[in-house]
Amino acid sequence: MTKIGSVELPDFPLILAPMEDISDPPFRVLCKEMGVDLMFTEFISSEGLIRDAAKSAKKLDIFEAERPIGIQVFGHDINSMLKAVEKIEEAQPDMIDINYGCPVKKVVAKGAGAGILRDLDKMQKMTAEIVKHTKLPVTVKTRLGWDDNSIVINEVAERLQDVGIKALSIHGRTRKQMYSGKADWHKIAEVKQNPKIHIPIFANGDIKSPEDAMRIRDEFGLDGAMIGRAAIGYPWIFREIKHFFATGEILPPPSIPERLRVVKKHLELAIQWKGERLGILETRPHYSNYFKAVPNFKPFRIRLVTEDNLEEIYRIFDEIEAYYQ
Ligand SMILES: Cc1cc2nc3c(=O)[nH]c(=O)nc-3n(C[C@H](O)[C@H](O)[C@H](O)COP(=O)(O)O)c2cc1C
Repeated sequence: MTKIGSVELPDFPLILAPMEDISDPPFRVLCKEMGVDLMFTEFISSEGLIRDAAKSAKKLDIFEAERPIGIQVFGHDINSMLKAVEKIEEAQPDMIDINYGCPVKKVVAKGAGAGILRDLDKMQKMTAEIVKHTKLPVTVKTRLGWDDNSIVINEVAERLQDVGIKALSIHGRTRKQMYSGKADWHKIAEVKQNPKIHIPIFANGDIKSPEDAMRIRDEFGLDGAMIGRAAIGYPWIFREIKHFFATGEILPPPSIPERLRVVKKHLELAIQWKGERLGILETRPHYSNYFKAVPNFKPFRIRLVTEDNLEEIYRIFDEIEAYYQ
């Protein structure tokens, strides 16, 4: 069993990474159906939350069926972060995750996200204050360091564990790398091997297959796998990994009817959550992901991403089913 404060997870939990515009309630429901063990919301700006910005507040929507779930927050100002934590508590998540990994310029420029990797004293102070301010378990997601010349993750892990975080997810890249190169799982494993570290260490970055997840567990000895991009349009990844761990077999990829079932559910959930117009609009970017590598899909995709009428969208789904029979 893996424990994050009082939250109990199975051994080697599979975790859905926080992803802006992706890890929203409709998508999270689908990942849950596919066996994910823990999920995080998209990141939420502390400043936006305390201003009551509608976009930030909407990201606090979580549902019973999603538990355990963590709400992720980012920001540069300790007081704003504490006020944001109070708002987050009202939403009653199972944990609060602090984002110290976002590499985006406008975030790091203010010293938030991965920007704080250049000021570990502030990182430790902010984390300590947040831990003291809430009864919820606090977790952190970060990167290896700012750049190759400042790989600080070992020090970060010790300092944040000292002030009371309950788990650490590490994206095996530096801020400078953004998303280039390859995530360094060895450097994540070094943190786990530090005898002083006793909190769960979750690996993140480039875990794309059941075999990758097995290496993270068996070869690198990490406590869980956090998966981002490989789950976009492919929530089946969680089921495939669980099945591989249990049986050693690789499941065949989902059939077209199965993909359609999930896409329809995604659209329905998006409409329930955001209303018909926004639900239709915001599901559009997902179609190409759900049908990635399906031959001759382009004409269907073009129609799906331009169609406004729900009945017509369902007619296109029927056509897809018939075409690939
Ligand atoms: C579209 C997108 C949005 C993301 N948004 C967030 C976010 O809100 N918070 C966060 O901590 N990381 C965010 N990330 C980073 C991912 O959580 C993850 O660390 C990164 O994609 C590496 O993992 P992967 O190789 O499994 O995708 C985002 C990544 C992508 C691709």
